[in-house]
Amino acid sequence: MGRLQKILIPFLGLVLAFCFYSARENFKPEMLKGKRVIVTGASTGIGEQMAYHLARMGAHVLVTARTEAKLQKVNGKLSTHTCMLMACTHKRRKANLTSQVVERCRELGAGSARLISGSMEDMAFAKRVVEAAEAELGGLDMLILNHVGKSYFSYFDGNVRHVQKLLDINFLSYVAMTVSALPMLKQSGGSIVVVSSMAGKVGFPFTVPYSATKFALDGFFSSLRQEFRIQNVNVSITLCILSFIDTESAVRAAADVLLMSPAPKEECALEIIKGGALRQREVYYKYALTKIPLLLRDWAAELLDYLVRQHYQVERPPAA
Ligand SMILES: NC(=O)c1ccc[n+]([C@@H]2O[C@H](COP(=O)([O-])OP(=O)(O)OC[C@H]3O[C@@H](n4cnc5c(N)ncnc54)[C@H](OP(=O)(O)O)[C@@H]3O)[C@@H](O)[C@H]2O)c1
Ligand SMILES: *[C@@H]1O[C@H](CO)[C@@H](O)[C@H](O)[C@H]1NC(C)=O
Repeated sequence: MGRLQKILIPFLGLVLAFCFYSARENFKPEMLKGKRVIVTGASTGIGEQMAYHLARMGAHVLVTARTEAKLQKVNGKLSTHTCMLMACTHKRRKANLTSQVVERCRELGAGSARLISGSMEDMAFAKRVVEAAEAELGGLDMLILNHVGKSYFSYFDGNVRHVQKLLDINFLSYVAMTVSALPMLKQSGGSIVVVSSMAGKVGFPFTVPYSATKFALDGFFSSLRQEFRIQNVNVSITLCILSFIDTESAVRAAADVLLMSPAPKEECALEIIKGGALRQREVYYKYALTKIPLLLRDWAAELLDYLVRQHYQVERPPAA
């Protein structure tokens, strides 16, 4: 095919996409008022910001995190003596720390706000979160799956066990929560919002296990979306394709290597909520940094791979 066509067709696609999206229903914050929403992984980062946006819009929010990690961080800054003293009031301390996000949500005007802590390595916990929504909110309108387990940002180290563990946290728990939440979501005509990444659409270096889990999400949820359409299940599935975002963990891991400035997590969080509320198929944020490379992906994969590598500052191993 001619080179001209290779350029023209993506360009036409862009124009069409623009017309298509601008003709759609507009987002209004009132859309979330009184809605019952679960946000997983909301102790920090994009999840935390989503919880605050939802609170401002008057939603009922149920947030999750492990919280132990946060506790350990705090403990690390304290003297051993304080830690020993605090160990006696472990339960209360935990409640205090984890309630920071919840408290802020209440201040911002959430219909209600609550937190359930536990690890998404455990599918029974994933199920419990959904059951809590049923018991305490009487149903569910939006399930925002956002948490990610810790991984490393460097060459694949060959650790198969780590890939398995990350698949449990980043993928299987999403599946488990979806299965548990489906009856409630069917009843409410609700939405599933899955937070993924460019690394879940394109091969990036240094995130091999993470990337595998994000590609798995695309396969599962894109396939499930098709079945919902065939079966007339009125539950929307929104897959969110994010570029580099300025959360603490991402900046700490990648800022020295990625030749790209991160986009703001607050705006990112809002775009995800908008996309979910509008029942969009996919969300692209930042739009140009995700949509344009994805248009290239299927037409000029080698070129895209090359361009991706140009955005990494790496010390190359000596030639063999
Ligand atoms: N930041 C980026 O550049 C970027 C780019 C593309 C996509 N994304 C996606 O955006 C989403 C949010 O990313 P982020 O940067 O905001 O992440 P983050 O700041 O690292 O937050 C991750 C959240 O997940 C929770 N979590 C971690 N391990 C967990 C476990 N085993 N069980 C339950 N919860 C766990 C963490 O809380 P605890 O540690 O307290 O459990 C935290 O609330 C992720 O899906 C990520 O893949 C981010
Ligand atoms: C599907 O659910 C949405 C949101 O709850 C609602 O606006 C829409 O009318 C529903 N569609 C059908 C066909 O029931």
